[in-house]
Order: sequence, then C-alpha cells, then structure tokens
Amino acid sequence: MKPIKNVCVVGLGTLGTQIAIQAAAYGYNVDAYDPKPDAFATMQTKVKAAMQMTRKGPTFPMALWDAHAAKVRLHSSLAAALLTADLVVEVVPEDVESKRKVFAELDRLAPIDALLATNSSSIPISRIESVTTRPEKCLNIHFYQPAVGMNMADIMGGSKTSPETLQAARVFVRSLGCVPLMVQKETLGFCFNSIWRAVKRQSLYMWDGGFVDFRDIDRAWMTFTGMTYGPFFLMDLVGLDIIYAIENIYFESSQDPRDAPPASLKQKIARGELGVKAGIGFYKYPDPECTREGFLLGA
Ligand SMILES: NC(=O)c1ccc[n+]([C@@H]2O[C@H](COP(=O)([O-])OP(=O)(O)OC[C@H]3O[C@@H](n4cnc5c(N)ncnc54)[C@H](O)[C@@H]3O)[C@@H](O)[C@H]2O)c1
Repeated sequence: MKPIKNVCVVGLGTLGTQIAIQAAAYGYNVDAYDPKPDAFATMQTKVKAAMQMTRKGPTFPMALWDAHAAKVRLHSSLAAALLTADLVVEVVPEDVESKRKVFAELDRLAPIDALLATNSSSIPISRIESVTTRPEKCLNIHFYQPAVGMNMADIMGGSKTSPETLQAARVFVRSLGCVPLMVQKETLGFCFNSIWRAVKRQSLYMWDGGFVDFRDIDRAWMTFTGMTYGPFFLMDLVGLDIIYAIENIYFESSQDPRDAPPASLKQKIARGELGVKAGIGFYKYPDPECTREGFLLGA
C-alpha cells in the first residue's frame, strides 16, 4: 500500500479544522476544501476559544498553532483539493445522504489508490461505501477533538474494508500523536463513542425529565473523573444540532423510544441554542459558568 503523505480534508468545520491542523503539525501535506471560503479562519477562532474554556490544548506546542494552520492549503474546488491525496478525510455534517453524495464525488475525483475515510460520529462506513468503486479502501476514522486534548480516534471498517486499509489508518492516527482505537466488529458508536453515548443519553434523560439540574450532572462528572468539564459542556462544544442528529441515528437504527432524542433538545435547537458556536446552548458563551471559580462547589 502507498504510504500516506498527502491528506485531503473535506469540510472545515469544528472537526475538519482540527484534523487538518493536527495532520499539518505532524508533517503531512494537507489540502482542504469547504464550500464556505471563510470556514477555516472562522472555525480557528472558535477552536481557540474552546481551548481557553476547557483549559486544554493540542498535542503540539500551542505557540506553533498558527504556523501549522498556515501550512494547510485551502482550495476553492474539491477536484483541486483531491488531486494528489493518499488519504481523504470527509468531515461534512452528520447526514447519511449528504455523506453518500460527497463520497460518490470523492470516488470520482480522488486518485484511484486513495483511502476514503469518514469522520462521522455515528454512521458506519458500510452505509456509505456502496456509492464508491473502492469499498476495500473505505473506512471510519472518528477523531474526537484533538485541539482540546481529546487525542484519540476510533477506526472501523465496513463490509469490504481490507486489513491493509485499517492498518494504514492505525499507523496514520498514531503518527498524529493520537491513540488509535481499533473496532474489531462493526458496531454503532465505534469504540469510545458508544461509551460516551451512554453517558450522554442518560444525562439528557435526567435533564429532560426534570430530575436534576444539568449543572449538577456536570459537577458530578468533573468531580468523579477529574476532568475540567462535564457532559453538558461537552455537548455544547460538539454542537447540539450535531448531538441531535447523532441521537437520531441511534433511534432510527433501534426504533427503541428510549433512544429518541428528547423533545426539549429539539426545542433548544429550534430556538437557535446550538452550543458554543451559537453563543448559547446549555451554558452561555464565551464565559460559561462551569468554567468559573467556585462552580464545582455550587457557586
Ligand atoms: N463536533 C464534534 O465534536 C465532532 C466530533 C467527532 C466527529 N464529528 C463528526 O464530524 C462531522 C462534521 O462535524 P462538525 O462538528 O465538524 O460539523 P460543522 O457543522 O462544524 O462543519 C461542517 C463543515 O462541512 C462543510 N460542508 C458542508 N457540505 C460540504 C460539502 N459538500 N463538501 C465540503 N464541505 C462541506 C460546512 O460548510 C462546514 O464548514 C460530522 O460527521 C460529525 O458527526 C463531530
């Protein structure tokens, strides 16, 4: 298999921006495309704010952030961005039909031997791979948020992914200073995301049912794990619209009403309360109370 040197990131939102800079920081040639020309610049400002709020940073020295970001080559056309790719990471919104459309384009435009990965939080590659002519080179690589200390990625194959593809992804993830989490049998939620999903579902249930104030769940989690934030802050960071879409994918798959995202979450989204990116979610930004002194003791 061709060694991975050139990485193309498609979609420069919350995660795409972080993946592109992480790969540039570790010596890869990074090409990138987003239909919104200012996506990369805008998102960097937001990611830097998230670093401040979480008091976490990337695996490389923060002082080098701008220099690494400057190495990412932005393109105004997808075809130009894909021209020399060895690995493509798709990071567009969490919707299976959009991802299938993008993957059909990636298959048409990327070099024939390029690997095609989706960063989806919940959609197994087996639901996407059939639009390509290279299912053996398609896989899930699910990064968390490397810029705020979550330097790990789930790696999962679909129905035809070759062992060489999975091994190449493992080497790639490790080379970025991230922990590769290998999924041995396809499952919704990959490795750690299914654990986080159980925490998230129960947290939403407790909040929606009015059993506890969401802040107390964050306080409990922070005290128990020693982390600087809890599940509700993390959902704000991810984006409540993304959280809703992910929960819906679990629900559509199981049809179990207990898996349905709560109506109050839908109402928050309808009011534009999407989390950090909107300035309001469960908390208000840029100065959420969970990052203030005294929060843990209930101040
Ligand atoms: N937000 C998180 O913490 C997180 C964590 C892990 C995985 N993910 C996954 O990563 C993916 C992206 O999530 P996000 O939070 O970065 O979303 P986002 O909404 O922040 O960014 C999505 C970006 O994709 C761009 N885009 C839309 N259509 C496109 C197209 N056809 N081609 C190229 N770019 C296009 C948008 O302009 C936007 O900049 C989703 O599948 C999500 O589940 C997100």
